[in-house]
Amino acid sequence: MNLMYYLIYVSQAAKPMKEQELSEILMKSRDYNTRDGITGLLIYKFTPSENRGNFMQLLEGPKAHVLGAFDRIKADKRHHTKVLLEQGELENQNFPDWSMGFRNADSSDLEKFEGYSNLGSSEFWDRAKDGKLSSALELMLSFYTDEFADD
Ligand SMILES: Cc1cc2nc3c(=O)[nH]c(=O)nc-3n(C[C@H](O)[C@H](O)[C@H](O)COP(=O)(O)O)c2cc1C
Repeated sequence: MNLMYYLIYVSQAAKPMKEQELSEILMKSRDYNTRDGITGLLIYKFTPSENRGNFMQLLEGPKAHVLGAFDRIKADKRHHTKVLLEQGELENQNFPDWSMGFRNADSSDLEKFEGYSNLGSSEFWDRAKDGKLSSALELMLSFYTDEFADD
């Protein structure tokens, strides 16, 4: 039996990302993830005061495939300072129809979640590295349910 697994990490973009660069990442990701039975969500947040982009991503699917994708993602020079926030087993995928969903987030999307409204600031990175953030899974799920609330 193939164990279902998820993980969530945050990272800093090597430079502010243009739309074209984000869609190149997404095209490749969706291609590979469809092949591997992986689903999830990628959030990009640009912080003007730091002139820096940040990623937050959830990957879920068969454990071996999720860990394999994460190995490739960790080796990718388009981002650095990758911090794993959460990982664990799953009964069912939470984003079953998203081979990799994408959201451009700003502080107002994140302020409900303790510790995340200043995602990208040095204070945020200190808390992330110390494991002092509230549930990353809850935050990621809010983007999924919001999608249907708008319909
Ligand atoms: C922020 C970010 C998110 C990514 N997400 C995925 C993903 O979900 N799945 C995936 O296969 N590759 C993802 N990639 C791309 C991988 O890093 C890698 O470039 C891709 O899997 C191709 O690997 P290959 O060149 O070894 O074939 C992501 C890259 C970045 C920078």
